[in-house]
Amino acid sequence: MTFDLLLKGGLLPDGTQADIAVTAGRIAAIAPGITAPAAEVVDATGLLVSPPLIDCHFHMDATLSYGTPRVNASGTLMEGIALWGELKQLQSRADIVSRALAYCRQAMAKGVLAIRSHVDVTDPSFRTVEALLEVRDAIKGKMDLQLVAFPQDGWFRAPGAEAQVIRALDAGVDVVGGIPHFERTMADGAAAVRAACRIAAERGLMVDLHCDESDDPLSRHIETLAAETIAFGLQGRVTGSHLTSMHSMDNYYVSKLIPLIAEARVAAIANPLINITLQGRSDTYPKRRGMTRVPELLAAGVNVAFGQDCVMDPWYPLGSGDMLDVAHMGLHVGLMTGTEQMRRAFQMVTDAPAQIMGLDFGLRVGARASLVVFDCATAIDALRLRPARRVVISDGKVVASTVPAATEIMAFSKA
Ligand code: FE2
Repeated sequence: MTFDLLLKGGLLPDGTQADIAVTAGRIAAIAPGITAPAAEVVDATGLLVSPPLIDCHFHMDATLSYGTPRVNASGTLMEGIALWGELKQLQSRADIVSRALAYCRQAMAKGVLAIRSHVDVTDPSFRTVEALLEVRDAIKGKMDLQLVAFPQDGWFRAPGAEAQVIRALDAGVDVVGGIPHFERTMADGAAAVRAACRIAAERGLMVDLHCDESDDPLSRHIETLAAETIAFGLQGRVTGSHLTSMHSMDNYYVSKLIPLIAEARVAAIANPLINITLQGRSDTYPKRRGMTRVPELLAAGVNVAFGQDCVMDPWYPLGSGDMLDVAHMGLHVGLMTGTEQMRRAFQMVTDAPAQIMGLDFGLRVGARASLVVFDCATAIDALRLRPARRVVISDGKVVASTVPAATEIMAFSKA
């Protein structure tokens, strides 16, 4: 038989060397020394080959807008939300589409082949939703875009937000979103969590809430989210994003909370680049790091992923679309420099987000043949060096390639 594509000699994240054969967009074989002919051969000898990088928490309707109409002077989450309120009145559907597609190209070059983006549904013009649905169609077959109906200004706080969430879901948006800590009261926040879970249960959808993105140790909507997940039978379909208040919570309370999250099979997404800069803003010293309790959640068996969240938008002036930057920051903030912890950090931008988004990626026969060849040998070196993504393969087709930069050192001779 002839394979469509054969990836030769790659090193898998577990360190084993194997060839990967692809037929009809799926992995047909993983074994050393495959000799059957292939229409296309990619030489990956001695290079890391992994499933694609995935960003499971992003805001594509705001990306690459930095400075429009002004920058976030205080650097706070709340000024960012206010600034986004100004920007969304100004931007056209075409603006959003062109910026989003530019971002997708950047991310794809870095080996990112799936993104879960929240889309603000509280703009009555609905142009953010229409724009990102257009983007999802435009990149279909090359990159997976999963959209979350996100009522940025609050489920109850923004007039008509629930109707807009439903309108977005009816239009084809995939996941139910929310922002309970932004409601006017804790009770409204709890009611918003319940409403999101009810809609997801009725429609057979997943839930992904911006949850407790706050330094307030009493912001405890994650407890409600886990309890309602169990009550509505949504185990395995619900994600709590950010969860930064957990950083500041009382340890005794957390010792009860984390087992509840695990029991409900609620996944967690930490966004280290953003929350290391947004949280702790009102602290003097010591300043809190503001990332959720990643190692403790992992130890309890919770599926935890890292997300990018923002690139050059009202909340964050930096970012490149490279999920290795995100994992690099995440392992530093989480004090995860143990060897196994660093390997886990790599999985938190590959395998863990695939599971959260329900994507059939992975290094197994029958999985989608979406793979990345890195210009290094190991997952830990990928985090350390964030090297060129030499070849990016989406569903069996090469969609991006990068030639590593060549540097010559004249100052010292080789030993
Ligand atoms: Fe977010």
